[in-house]
Formats: sequence, C-alpha cells, structure tokens
Amino acid sequence: MPHRRLRVAPQPAPKPAAIEPSGPVRDVQPYQAVSSLDEIHARPQQVPHKLDWNEATVPPSPRVIEAITAFLGNAHHLNWYPVLNSTNLIERLSAFTGVPHERMLITNGSDDALNTLCTTYLGVDDRVLVASPTYQHFLVFAATRGADIVHHYAPDPFEKDLDGLLDALARVRPRMLYLVNPNNPTGVIYEADEVAALLAAAPETLVVVDEAYSEFAGRSCVRLLQTYSNLVVTRTFSKAYGMAGLRIGYAMAPEPVIRDLRRVFNPKSVNVLAQIGAMAALEDQAWLRWYLEEVDDAKALYAEWFAARGIECRVTPANYIMVRFEQAPWVVRRLADLGVYVRDRSHVPRLNGFVRFSVGTVEQTHDVLARVGQVLEEMVPPTC
Ligand SMILES: Cc1ncc(COP(=O)(O)O)c(C=O)c1O
Repeated sequence: MPHRRLRVAPQPAPKPAAIEPSGPVRDVQPYQAVSSLDEIHARPQQVPHKLDWNEATVPPSPRVIEAITAFLGNAHHLNWYPVLNSTNLIERLSAFTGVPHERMLITNGSDDALNTLCTTYLGVDDRVLVASPTYQHFLVFAATRGADIVHHYAPDPFEKDLDGLLDALARVRPRMLYLVNPNNPTGVIYEADEVAALLAAAPETLVVVDEAYSEFAGRSCVRLLQTYSNLVVTRTFSKAYGMAGLRIGYAMAPEPVIRDLRRVFNPKSVNVLAQIGAMAALEDQAWLRWYLEEVDDAKALYAEWFAARGIECRVTPANYIMVRFEQAPWVVRRLADLGVYVRDRSHVPRLNGFVRFSVGTVEQTHDVLARVGQVLEEMVPPTC
C-alpha cells in the first residue's frame, strides 16, 4: 500500500506577545528546522534512512555506549552537576589534537561554541562576513546580536573563491568571518595555506573556521593556531563520531580568545553523559577509521550510480552529496514516502534543484539507491 504523507493540522494564529523580545531579537527569523523524526516514529514498520541532517547513520562506537551504560549502572550521581568545563575531556582532547588545554573550550554542541563566539564578540551593527550559502543557524546567532551580516557568494557555489573572499575582507572589514570548511552544503574546502592568507590579510578580523566535517575531509587548519592570534576553529562530536543526540562540540583558539569566551560561557552546560561518551569515542579511533572509509566508499557508489543515469551529483569531501533533480521538491516528498529523508536545498540561492543526501555506510547506500531508483522510475513519462 502506498504511504500517505503525514499532514500537519493547521495551527491557530499565534497570540501577540505580552512582552516584546529584547532589541535585535525582534527582527530575527527563527531557523526553519524541519526534522523527519516525527515521520520516522509514525512509521515503525519501515526501515528509515535519515539523511537530512548530516548525522552519522550508525550508532557511535560501542565503547561510547559501554562507558555511558557503566556510568548509569553504578552510583552515577546524575543528581550532581557535571565536571565543570569538562576538564577531564579537555585533557584527553588536548593529548589527541596536540592543542594545549588553555586553548580549548568544550561546548554543548559546536552550535554552543558559535553562539558563545557571537555573544562574546558581536554587538549591534558589527559586520560579519559569511562565505555563503552555508550553515544557516550561525546566521541566527549573529542576527541575535544585531550584527550586520554580509554574504559573500562565489561566482560558482561549488568552487572556492579565495580572491573574492580576500576582496570582500578588504572591502567589508568585518569583525568576524565565518567560514565552514568543508562547507555545508556545497563541500567547498580551503586548504590551510589559503586560510592562512585570509588570516594574514585581516589581522583585526576574528576568523571562525567551522570544521564540523573535517574528519571526513581529513584536513584541518588547527596547526595555524600556532601562528595566528585571530583564528578560532570549531569542531563537533555530532558528525563523524555519531553523537549528535548527546550534544558536544568544542572550540580551539588562542588563549586570550578562550579566556574571553569563558567570561560568558556556563561551565556546567555540557552534560555528564556527553563528556563520558566523548572520552570513550576518542579512545576508539579504529571505529572512526572504519566509519570514514564506509562513507568514502558510499560516496563513490553514489557518484557512479548517478553518473550512469546522467544525473548531476556533486560529491563533497564531507559526509554528504548534492544531487540535482528536475523536480526536486517532488522527489524529496516521494523519497520520504519510501522512508528516505533528504534535505531539499533547491530554494537556497544558487543551489537551484539541488538535494542534499547525508552519506552513510555502503550497505545502507545500496538500499537508499534502490528506493531512489523506484522514485526515478515514477518520473519517467509512460510510453504508449
Ligand atoms: C557547519 C555546521 N556547523 C555546526 C553544526 C552544528 O553541530 P553541533 O551538533 O555540534 O551543534 C552543523 C550541523 O549540521 C553544521 O553543519
């Protein structure tokens, strides 16, 4: 039996607020977060492929589950606040990354790091240059501070544009530059020496490099922290480590920046299970390597499959691909009917027709492609 789309009942018009939000928040448009979780839960018989938020498609390393289970099974003290500032985890992460612990801040997801950066460094009308199109939620954090957001669009959204960014930096002279590297959703990636050129060209701009997907790309500009005082790198356990539900990420920056972030940061905001899980995840690098390889092989499979059908597929260095369809919104809806949840990016400036698929394991990808094939067959006009 064909699946029906779930319909959302019409909502009554919201009541006017008794008290207005403060200053710039009045003009902020909420981030349009659409989660497929409700649909997934409403169809327990169907094996879902949740490929819409670039999460890992498998649970994290078994060591994460073991460590959390062991904690919960013992005298766990969930009634106590967690280790302040995640100092235990900082020590492990510092050993792992080679970045001294004074240059690290562990946060409640990397979103929390981005928000803390905006709270600390941005005020009304401060200019922020954003290499767009990119991760949307950062814009909410910046807008909440009343910042003046200036987008820089490369002539081709899938190609890097170092000269264009350098020109924009010189023209806009922003207080902050936000660069997602590799970019979500286009996959554009700047090498460390190119990021260095941006840092050197604008010593008074805080350059925030969001490395949410750097494990997949196998590249990072962390080493530039040794040379540049205007660099911040943010990372997360949500993607390659498969821990999005636990909410844990981190920022690495020169010591004075971390000190300033700590002025506003709540030292107890990273929950105890996330801290324990992250420490266990770091210990299982074999699991990480396995998952990165699966994603790489699955990307190759997608590329080959779409190429054979003459469909444009942009493979990124991260854990997603961008695929162009004639009728993108329809394809996305039909795929959801079949339990494949992907993200329609076709309305984003310059990404007309593109749909983003998060990439998981090879086995999962075979199943996803079987369902994509079913949808494509429906698109073919009937022959007489
Ligand atoms: C570029 C980028 N940065 C940050 C995030 C948020 O990550 P976290 O789960 O660590 O808050 C995302 C999530 O999709 C992202 O794509």
